[in-house]
Amino acid sequence: MSNDKIDSILQENRQFAPPPDFARHARIPTAQALSALSERAAADHSGFWAELARRELTWHTPFQTALDSSEAPSFRWFKEGRLNVSYNCLDRQLAQHGDKTAIVFEGEKGDTRRISYAELHQDVCRFANALKAQGAKQGDRVVIYMPMIPEAVVAMQACARIGAIHSVVFGGFSAESLKDRINDAGATLLITADGGHRGGKIVELKAAADKALDHGCPSIKNVIVFKRTAHAVNMKAGRDIWWSDAIAQQAAQCEPVWVESEHPLFLLYTSGSTGKPKGIQHSSAGYLLGAIVTMQWVFDIGDDDVFWCTADVGWITGHSYVAYGPLACGATMVIYEGAPTVPDSGRFWKLCQDHKVTIFYTAPTAIRALMKGGDDIPAKYDLSSLRLLGTVGEPINPEAWMWYHRVIGRERCPIVDTWWQTETGAHMIAPIPGAVPTKPGSCTLPLPGIAADVVDEQGKSITAADKGGYLVIKQPWPSMLRTIWGDHERYVQTYWGKFGGKYYLAGDSARRDKDGYFWIMGRIDDVLNVSGHRLGTMEVESALVAHPRVAEAAVVGRPDELKGEAIFAYVVLRGERPAGGVDTALTSELRQWVAEQIGPIAKPDDIRYADNLPKTRSGKIMRRLLRTIAAGEEITQDTSTLENEAILLQLQGKQ
Ligand code: WT7
Repeated sequence: MSNDKIDSILQENRQFAPPPDFARHARIPTAQALSALSERAAADHSGFWAELARRELTWHTPFQTALDSSEAPSFRWFKEGRLNVSYNCLDRQLAQHGDKTAIVFEGEKGDTRRISYAELHQDVCRFANALKAQGAKQGDRVVIYMPMIPEAVVAMQACARIGAIHSVVFGGFSAESLKDRINDAGATLLITADGGHRGGKIVELKAAADKALDHGCPSIKNVIVFKRTAHAVNMKAGRDIWWSDAIAQQAAQCEPVWVESEHPLFLLYTSGSTGKPKGIQHSSAGYLLGAIVTMQWVFDIGDDDVFWCTADVGWITGHSYVAYGPLACGATMVIYEGAPTVPDSGRFWKLCQDHKVTIFYTAPTAIRALMKGGDDIPAKYDLSSLRLLGTVGEPINPEAWMWYHRVIGRERCPIVDTWWQTETGAHMIAPIPGAVPTKPGSCTLPLPGIAADVVDEQGKSITAADKGGYLVIKQPWPSMLRTIWGDHERYVQTYWGKFGGKYYLAGDSARRDKDGYFWIMGRIDDVLNVSGHRLGTMEVESALVAHPRVAEAAVVGRPDELKGEAIFAYVVLRGERPAGGVDTALTSELRQWVAEQIGPIAKPDDIRYADNLPKTRSGKIMRRLLRTIAAGEEITQDTSTLENEAILLQLQGKQ
């Protein structure tokens, strides 16, 4: 057994009980309290959720049916009910929390703003009225392409208020990606900004939006532009309007549109195993309920907390734990626009100190990057306000977990490692911090009402410890996706096809240890996890082959210390392979090309040129072989079927 292997087994046995002073005040303070909840859920799954929905949501019209499974795998939760998500986030805080700070904003340059619930409510109402004045109405799709500023949340909440379906496109995506998402959704309105601030530079959002629209987005009629950077941008007469002008004449009240529980709140595009991202469609009531109960259970949110989730609103984390969950719980949250390393890798810790953050939630990739800065930088800051830490996006390596625990949490704060997905809407497998002991690297146990399991090829539950299998969810849950926009068949196939419509297939492999703790092992499909961001290998391949010099491309992941996975591309050129397999100019051109096609996050880290790609007799690319080579590991696969074994040396970069 290798030392690494022994280490990891020893590490698995390392357990951290909830600190007594945490558990004493926790919402779910003991293992007994938690099992009572889980037993209640197991005894009456839909009744359990219905009870929560009645208690935690404010309804305009109550629902009668908790769950309608008559058209499974299309599920309808809380049928007949009507409510408004923005009302649930804002209006219901006004009576008691009107003056409470909803958002503490800090820009990269240090500019700060505090926005109370009463002010946020007014901002959202004014902007909702502006949306209506621009012609947006219930059911219309509105694309939001914004920097990480409070107005991004205002725009989302305003859509929710009038029943328009938002689709937020991460500001790091290129014009090309923006265009595809606008067109797939048939969006009529685009909300953007002149630019954003990140890493000391301006992110040219308006320029990218113009490029997307110039390349053909016939459905877009109007563009609302928020002035953030105030640098010169083009405004197209008759199409573009400044945010400030759009709200100038608008009233600060706006009657919410009472939508059905199942009314789509938003679409969010995410990568799958084809070249085309899928528009994950979420509901209103069930989605919000998932965000609220996980804020309570996993984040233990209380009235005095200052909650900071560092995710951008362009990702699901920024939807559930920035734009909706914290507000629906009446919490105070921090929003930061810039990069974690400006001016140095102490920025997050300084923000935690200055704003007295109590609950901090970020990605393993950020923790690993900041860990590289050493222990001295965080040591400079007073982090005594922190009481709970969280991670999301990829498995966290025990070393990073321990650093987070020791250097940031000062050994006082439980760490919640939360497993979930764009599709699940909210946390699914995560510790309840007052009740569940944690183990570095494990997301621990499924939440109450979440029927997660690990099954074999036949769908049989794997009970043996440490044996890997498919991660599935055996019962529908309120915050689950409802469909893929415009492609219901793909929804049925992708998520329900594998086990005859019975189980939701997460697309991850997992194992359980002897204590029943879940350990996520990685994706089972051709999806990469680069710095916690999901990218399809096919997406990157399609981008590469769209370049005139590329004939064929295969993309795989390679383990990377910081990013989790790095992007490794094997490329066959039209015409001659570069001498010795090296052409630095072309390599940087291709990387830039992919950044333009998708976004900088998709830039291949390595590109290797070969005369052809290794394929099986039936013509399938031997991806496992390519992964082995990318990882620099010894080839153990059978390569005798290769037409031209000499290309192995080219693929390995040895020739
Ligand atoms: C995929 C979902 C959920 C918000 C961010 C990513 C991986 C996510 C964990 C975790 C191990 C994790 C899975 C999952 N993942 N959280 N705590 N431990 N892996 O959302 O882009 O939809 O990606 O991220 O592979 O399937 P996403």
